[in-house]
Order: sequence, then C-alpha cells, then structure tokens
Amino acid sequence: MKSLKTDAPDILVFDSGLGGLTVFRELVSLLPRARYRYVADDAVFPYGEMPARVLIARVAKVLAPLVDARAPDVVVIACNTASTLVLPPLRAAWPGIRFVGTVPAVKPAAERSRSRMISVLATPGTVARDYTRDLVEAFAGHCEVSLVGSRRLATLAEVFLRGGMLEDADITREIAPCFVERGGRRTDHIVLACTHYPLLLEAFRRLAPWEVEWVDPAPAIARQAERLLIDKGFAALPDARSIDNGQFILTSNRTPDGRLKFLIRAINLEFVKIDTI
Ligand code: DGL
Repeated sequence: MKSLKTDAPDILVFDSGLGGLTVFRELVSLLPRARYRYVADDAVFPYGEMPARVLIARVAKVLAPLVDARAPDVVVIACNTASTLVLPPLRAAWPGIRFVGTVPAVKPAAERSRSRMISVLATPGTVARDYTRDLVEAFAGHCEVSLVGSRRLATLAEVFLRGGMLEDADITREIAPCFVERGGRRTDHIVLACTHYPLLLEAFRRLAPWEVEWVDPAPAIARQAERLLIDKGFAALPDARSIDNGQFILTSNRTPDGRLKFLIRAINLEFVKIDTI
C-alpha cells in the first residue's frame, strides 16, 4: 500500500509578472496548506513578443536555481506565453519534477459556445504559436475562431494591480477585435489566454459591446495541480491556511512598494531577495 504524505507540498508558481497571481489565488483556495513560492520574472517582463528561443532559455535560467535549491512538488507555469513553448524542454531538463502549464482554454469555450463564434485573447506570442493553432484545429473545428493578439493588455494589467489608473479607451481598443458579428451570429465566448487578463475582468465586462462568457482556465489549473499532488502520494490536505508565509520573488529584486507591498502581504506572501538571475 502506498503511504500517504501528510506534510505540506511545495508549489512553485511562475509567471513573467503578476498575472500568475490569478492562478495563485485559485491554487490557494483549493490547496490552502501548501507552501508557495511565487516567482515573477519582472526583470524582463513582458514575454509577449519575446522570440521563442530567447524565452525558452530565459525560463530555464530563472527556474534552475530555484528548483535546484529546493525541489518543488509541483511547478505551475502560470503563463500562457511561456507554457505554449517551454513545457517539453522543462520536463526534459527536470524529469523528476511535475509541471502544470497554463494553455488557452479553447476546448471548453468551443464546447460551450452556442453561436459557434469564439475568440482567444492572448499575447502576440501565444496567438502565433503552433500549440495554439493545434488546439483550435483539434477542438474548435466547428467554430469560427478569432485569435486576438494584444500588445498592451498585460502591461495595463500590471499598472492596474500596482494601483495605477487606466483609460477605458485603451482597454476598449484592445478587446474590440474579439467581438465579431456576422450573418446574424456573434461571438459568445472569449478565452482569457493570458493570466494577466482576469485582473481586468471587471473592466472587460463593463466595456464589452455585448455580454459574453469570459473563460478563465485558472480553476482547472488548480485542480490539475491537486491531481498531481494526490498522485504523488499527498493526503487530502486540511483546509486551514498554512501558518507559514509563502515567498514572493521578483527577478529584478526590486522591493515592492505602493499597492503591491500591501497586496502581497494580504495574500500571505513575503518578499524575499534572491541571487541575481
Ligand atoms: N501572463 C502571461 C501569459 O499568460 C504573459 C504576459 C507577458 O509577459 O506578456 O501569457
């Protein structure tokens, strides 16, 4: 019989910036007792238009010292732009570590759409990837799919989370191409295929020309992380939040200030500096 691990699992959550916090909040609500390290590669943010080869090398370089110092039970790549490229090389580099990726939720959107018109809102990198195109071909053949690459939304989401003001017109311009109307049908599902975008969901809803379902894969990612932990032998975890603070790491090592400082404290994370990557 497999013996059950009763200690708290170690989960490392990685993104180019603060967008991965939208996945982190789902992880914490499902797995409150885990020990977390949240890593934002803010030194080179954004990843959206970074060449594929540079991005693959960068993610491995950032993760290497963190994974090697303390092997996590699960690494969640809370970034679509990275996940659509880096999962195979990461799994090859660390065969003993379980990786969970975040990839565009094309399948559920296509299954639920009644108008059979869906949009995928993502970074320019994500919409250009073979990975995304293959998802569309495999799961959304019966739908008209608009792939919308936004150059600015991830940065706007960062500004917003750090307490900055946004202009409605800037957001409207970025989401407008997602809303397509043709032959009496119109888009009814929009996939939030960048983890930064749920941070702006309230504005998206308010500024949308008509009501749509916004599909956020974060709860499914948290469930997948839980499945991997159970598979690794972790017992069902008690609900109480861990008394340990998790760690919040910025590759820039810039001490969080303003609203971000309060935010990370509110989510029970503690800023720690690391050796420069
Ligand atoms: N949060 C990232 C994603 O899910 C990308 C943001 C960026 O660095 O451009 O795609």
